[in-house]
Amino acid sequence: MKLSPADFPKRKAEKSIISMVTCYDYTMACLINESNVDCVLVGDSLSNVMHGEETTIPATVELMALHTRAVHRGLCDKFLVSDMPFLSTRLGIEKGTENAGKLIAQGADAVKIEGADGNLELISHLVESGIPVMGHLGLTPQFYHAIGGYKVQGRSEAAKEKLVKDSIALEKAGCFAIVAECIPSDVAEEMSKAVSVPIIGIGGGANVDGQVLVLHDMLGLTKFKPKFVRHFIEGAELVKKALNEYDETCKNKTFPSEKETFNK
Ligand code: KIV
Repeated sequence: MKLSPADFPKRKAEKSIISMVTCYDYTMACLINESNVDCVLVGDSLSNVMHGEETTIPATVELMALHTRAVHRGLCDKFLVSDMPFLSTRLGIEKGTENAGKLIAQGADAVKIEGADGNLELISHLVESGIPVMGHLGLTPQFYHAIGGYKVQGRSEAAKEKLVKDSIALEKAGCFAIVAECIPSDVAEEMSKAVSVPIIGIGGGANVDGQVLVLHDMLGLTKFKPKFVRHFIEGAELVKKALNEYDETCKNKTFPSEKETFNK
Protein backbone atom coordinates (compact mmCIF):
# COMPACT_ATOMS: atom_id res chain seq x y z
CA MET A 1 0.00 0.00 0.00
CA LYS A 2 1.24 3.49 -0.85
CA LEU A 3 2.68 5.34 2.16
CA SER A 4 1.41 8.74 3.27
CA PRO A 5 3.61 11.31 5.09
CA ALA A 6 1.95 10.33 8.39
CA ASP A 7 3.07 6.71 7.86
CA PHE A 8 6.75 7.67 8.01
CA PRO A 9 6.89 8.45 11.77
CA LYS A 10 4.52 5.53 12.38
CA ARG A 11 6.93 3.18 10.61
CA LYS A 12 9.75 4.55 12.77
CA ALA A 13 7.72 4.00 15.96
CA GLU A 14 7.05 0.41 14.81
CA LYS A 15 10.78 -0.04 14.10
CA SER A 16 9.90 -0.91 10.52
CA ILE A 17 12.79 0.11 8.27
CA ILE A 18 11.91 2.25 5.23
CA SER A 19 13.59 1.53 1.87
CA MET A 20 13.92 4.21 -0.78
CA VAL A 21 15.66 4.31 -4.17
CA THR A 22 16.11 7.04 -6.72
CA CYS A 23 14.42 6.83 -10.10
CA TYR A 24 14.51 9.13 -13.09
CA ASP A 25 12.54 7.45 -15.89
CA TYR A 26 9.29 5.66 -16.74
CA THR A 27 10.70 2.19 -17.51
CA MET A 28 12.59 1.87 -14.22
CA ALA A 29 9.58 3.34 -12.37
CA CYS A 30 7.40 0.49 -13.73
CA LEU A 31 9.93 -2.05 -12.38
CA ILE A 32 10.21 -0.35 -8.97
CA ASN A 33 6.42 -0.23 -8.79
CA GLU A 34 6.40 -4.04 -8.90
CA SER A 35 9.05 -4.33 -6.13
CA ASN A 36 8.75 -4.18 -2.34
CA VAL A 37 10.70 -0.90 -2.11
CA ASP A 38 8.70 1.57 0.00
CA CYS A 39 9.28 4.89 -1.71
CA VAL A 40 11.01 6.61 -4.60
CA LEU A 41 13.06 9.76 -4.98
CA VAL A 42 13.50 11.69 -8.19
CA GLY A 43 16.86 12.93 -6.97
CA ASP A 44 18.74 15.81 -8.49
CA SER A 45 21.48 13.17 -8.83
CA LEU A 46 19.79 12.76 -12.22
CA SER A 47 22.15 15.55 -13.21
CA ASN A 48 25.08 13.10 -12.73
CA VAL A 49 23.41 9.81 -13.57
CA MET A 50 21.19 10.74 -16.53
CA HIS A 51 22.97 13.79 -17.91
CA GLY A 52 26.64 13.06 -17.18
CA GLU A 53 27.26 16.26 -15.21
CA GLU A 54 29.92 16.38 -12.50
CA THR A 55 27.58 17.81 -9.85
CA THR A 56 23.86 18.20 -9.16
CA ILE A 57 24.14 21.96 -9.62
CA PRO A 58 23.00 22.09 -13.29
CA ALA A 59 19.62 20.48 -12.42
CA THR A 60 16.74 22.94 -12.84
CA VAL A 61 13.13 22.92 -11.66
CA GLU A 62 12.04 22.29 -15.27
CA LEU A 63 14.37 19.25 -15.57
CA MET A 64 13.18 17.88 -12.22
CA ALA A 65 9.57 18.39 -13.31
CA LEU A 66 10.14 16.52 -16.60
CA HIS A 67 11.69 13.49 -14.87
CA THR A 68 9.11 13.62 -12.05
CA ARG A 69 6.34 13.32 -14.66
CA ALA A 70 8.01 10.32 -16.32
CA VAL A 71 8.50 8.51 -13.00
CA HIS A 72 4.98 9.35 -11.84
CA ARG A 73 3.55 7.70 -14.98
CA GLY A 74 5.20 4.41 -14.03
CA LEU A 75 4.43 4.47 -10.31
CA CYS A 76 1.02 4.22 -8.80
CA ASP A 77 1.68 2.34 -5.57
CA LYS A 78 4.75 4.17 -4.24
CA PHE A 79 5.22 7.45 -2.43
CA LEU A 80 7.14 9.77 -4.76
CA VAL A 81 9.49 12.50 -3.52
CA SER A 82 11.10 14.99 -5.88
CA ASP A 83 14.20 17.07 -5.17
CA MET A 84 14.07 20.85 -5.06
CA PRO A 85 17.19 21.65 -7.14
CA PHE A 86 20.03 24.12 -6.54
CA LEU A 87 18.82 27.61 -5.47
CA SER A 88 15.15 26.75 -6.06
CA THR A 89 14.44 27.26 -2.34
CA ARG A 90 16.61 30.36 -1.99
CA LEU A 91 14.68 32.99 -3.90
CA GLY A 92 12.02 33.76 -1.30
CA ILE A 93 8.89 32.06 -0.03
CA GLU A 94 6.83 32.93 -3.10
CA LYS A 95 9.32 31.57 -5.64
CA GLY A 96 10.09 28.52 -3.47
CA THR A 97 6.40 27.71 -3.20
CA GLU A 98 5.92 28.15 -6.94
CA ASN A 99 8.89 25.82 -7.60
CA ALA A 100 7.63 23.15 -5.19
CA GLY A 101 4.17 23.46 -6.75
CA LYS A 102 5.64 22.66 -10.20
CA LEU A 103 7.01 19.33 -8.92
CA ILE A 104 3.77 18.45 -7.13
CA ALA A 105 1.82 19.33 -10.30
CA GLN A 106 3.89 16.73 -12.21
CA GLY A 107 3.04 13.95 -9.77
CA ALA A 108 5.39 14.25 -6.76
CA ASP A 109 3.77 13.47 -3.40
CA ALA A 110 6.42 15.49 -1.55
CA VAL A 111 9.55 17.54 -2.13
CA LYS A 112 13.00 17.15 -0.61
CA ILE A 113 15.04 20.19 0.46
CA GLU A 114 18.79 20.19 1.21
CA GLY A 115 19.95 21.95 4.39
CA ALA A 116 18.17 23.57 7.33
CA ASP A 117 19.71 27.04 7.60
CA GLY A 118 17.63 29.53 5.64
CA ASN A 119 15.01 26.93 4.64
CA LEU A 120 12.92 26.54 7.80
CA GLU A 121 10.39 29.27 7.00
CA LEU A 122 9.82 27.90 3.49
CA ILE A 123 9.48 24.34 4.83
CA SER A 124 6.79 25.45 7.34
CA HIS A 125 4.98 27.39 4.63
CA LEU A 126 5.01 24.43 2.22
CA VAL A 127 3.80 22.02 4.89
CA GLU A 128 1.00 24.46 5.87
CA SER A 129 0.15 24.72 2.16
CA GLY A 130 -0.27 20.95 1.76
CA ILE A 131 3.16 20.13 0.35
CA PRO A 132 4.92 17.49 2.47
CA VAL A 133 8.67 18.08 2.86
CA MET A 134 11.54 15.63 3.38
CA GLY A 135 14.70 17.19 4.82
CA HIS A 136 18.28 16.39 3.81
CA LEU A 137 21.31 16.89 6.10
CA GLY A 138 24.96 15.82 6.22
CA LEU A 139 26.58 15.81 2.81
CA THR A 140 24.30 18.09 0.82
CA PRO A 141 25.64 17.90 -2.77
CA GLN A 142 24.14 21.28 -3.74
CA PHE A 143 26.71 22.79 -1.34
CA TYR A 144 29.55 21.19 -3.34
CA HIS A 145 31.46 24.46 -3.76
CA ALA A 146 30.96 25.55 -0.15
CA ILE A 147 32.00 22.15 1.26
CA GLY A 148 34.90 21.86 -1.19
CA GLY A 149 33.86 18.54 -2.74
CA TYR A 150 32.09 15.39 -1.61
CA LYS A 151 33.34 14.64 1.90
CA VAL A 152 32.07 12.78 4.96
CA GLN A 153 30.32 15.28 7.25
CA GLY A 154 29.72 15.50 11.00
CA ARG A 155 33.13 14.23 12.16
CA SER A 156 33.79 16.92 14.78
CA GLU A 157 31.81 17.27 17.99
CA ALA A 158 30.55 20.69 16.88
CA ALA A 159 29.42 19.33 13.50
CA LYS A 160 27.67 16.43 15.22
CA GLU A 161 25.82 18.80 17.57
CA LYS A 162 24.79 20.96 14.60
CA LEU A 163 23.39 17.93 12.74
CA VAL A 164 21.33 16.91 15.78
CA LYS A 165 20.13 20.51 16.25
CA ASP A 166 19.22 20.78 12.55
CA SER A 167 17.31 17.49 12.69
CA ILE A 168 15.20 18.86 15.55
CA ALA A 169 14.65 22.14 13.68
CA LEU A 170 13.54 20.28 10.52
CA GLU A 171 11.11 18.15 12.49
CA LYS A 172 9.71 21.29 14.17
CA ALA A 173 9.33 22.97 10.76
CA GLY A 174 7.19 20.01 9.67
CA CYS A 175 9.45 17.57 7.78
CA PHE A 176 8.00 14.03 7.78
CA ALA A 177 11.45 12.39 7.27
CA ILE A 178 15.09 13.44 6.92
CA VAL A 179 17.79 12.04 4.62
CA ALA A 180 21.22 11.88 6.31
CA GLU A 181 24.03 11.54 3.79
CA CYS A 182 27.67 10.49 4.38
CA ILE A 183 28.01 10.85 8.13
CA PRO A 184 29.52 8.56 10.78
CA SER A 185 27.00 6.00 12.00
CA ASP A 186 27.08 7.22 15.64
CA VAL A 187 26.07 10.70 14.42
CA ALA A 188 23.23 9.30 12.32
CA GLU A 189 22.08 7.30 15.34
CA GLU A 190 22.11 10.42 17.56
CA MET A 191 20.05 12.25 14.94
CA SER A 192 17.56 9.40 14.89
CA LYS A 193 17.28 9.41 18.69
CA ALA A 194 16.65 13.16 18.72
CA VAL A 195 13.55 13.15 16.48
CA SER A 196 10.39 11.12 16.00
CA VAL A 197 10.51 11.32 12.20
CA PRO A 198 12.63 8.72 10.39
CA ILE A 199 16.26 9.38 9.52
CA ILE A 200 16.86 7.81 6.12
CA GLY A 201 20.55 7.15 5.66
CA ILE A 202 22.81 7.03 2.64
CA GLY A 203 26.28 6.37 3.95
CA GLY A 204 24.96 6.77 7.51
CA GLY A 205 25.31 3.17 8.73
CA ALA A 206 22.66 0.71 9.85
CA ASN A 207 21.42 2.36 13.07
CA VAL A 208 18.87 4.60 11.35
CA ASP A 209 15.23 4.27 10.33
CA GLY A 210 15.61 3.76 6.60
CA GLN A 211 18.05 3.57 3.72
CA VAL A 212 18.25 5.23 0.33
CA LEU A 213 20.58 4.48 -2.59
CA VAL A 214 20.93 5.82 -6.10
CA LEU A 215 19.27 3.18 -8.31
CA HIS A 216 22.04 3.02 -10.92
CA ASP A 217 24.68 2.61 -8.18
CA MET A 218 22.90 -0.26 -6.43
CA LEU A 219 22.27 -1.99 -9.77
CA GLY A 220 25.99 -1.77 -10.54
CA LEU A 221 25.36 0.29 -13.67
CA THR A 222 27.68 3.16 -12.74
CA LYS A 223 31.40 3.19 -12.04
CA PHE A 224 30.69 5.21 -8.84
CA LYS A 225 31.49 2.89 -5.92
CA PRO A 226 32.03 4.70 -2.62
CA LYS A 227 32.28 2.70 0.62
CA PHE A 228 28.54 2.91 1.36
CA VAL A 229 27.31 1.56 -1.98
CA ARG A 230 26.54 -2.12 -2.46
CA HIS A 231 26.02 -3.54 -5.97
CA PHE A 232 22.97 -5.78 -5.66
CA ILE A 233 23.62 -6.92 -9.24
CA GLU A 234 26.53 -6.27 -11.60
CA GLY A 235 24.27 -4.45 -14.06
CA ALA A 236 27.04 -2.98 -16.22
CA GLU A 237 28.51 -6.44 -16.86
CA LEU A 238 25.09 -7.88 -17.74
CA VAL A 239 24.29 -5.02 -20.13
CA LYS A 240 27.71 -5.20 -21.85
CA LYS A 241 27.37 -8.99 -22.20
CA ALA A 242 23.94 -8.57 -23.84
CA LEU A 243 25.24 -5.86 -26.19
CA ASN A 244 28.17 -8.00 -27.29
CA GLU A 245 25.90 -11.00 -27.82
CA TYR A 246 23.60 -8.81 -29.95
CA ASP A 247 26.58 -7.52 -31.93
CA GLU A 248 27.86 -11.05 -32.54
CA THR A 249 24.47 -12.42 -33.62
CA CYS A 250 23.93 -9.46 -35.98
CA LYS A 251 27.29 -10.14 -37.58
CA ASN A 252 27.00 -13.93 -37.81
CA LYS A 253 23.40 -13.54 -39.05
CA THR A 254 21.84 -15.68 -36.31
CA PHE A 255 19.78 -12.59 -35.44
CA PRO A 256 17.06 -12.17 -36.55
CA SER A 257 15.90 -15.78 -36.69
CA GLU A 258 13.03 -17.07 -38.82
CA LYS A 259 10.70 -16.56 -35.79
CA GLU A 260 11.77 -12.92 -35.55
CA THR A 261 11.12 -12.25 -39.25
CA PHE A 262 7.91 -11.16 -41.03
CA ASN A 263 6.86 -13.33 -43.94
CA LYS A 264 4.10 -12.68 -46.47
O1 KIV B 1 19.76 13.35 -5.42
C1 KIV B 1 19.78 12.27 -4.81
O2 KIV B 1 19.85 11.17 -5.39
C2 KIV B 1 19.73 12.30 -3.37
C3 KIV B 1 20.02 11.02 -2.66
C4 KIV B 1 21.47 10.77 -2.68
C5 KIV B 1 19.48 10.99 -1.29
O3 KIV B 1 19.51 13.31 -2.79
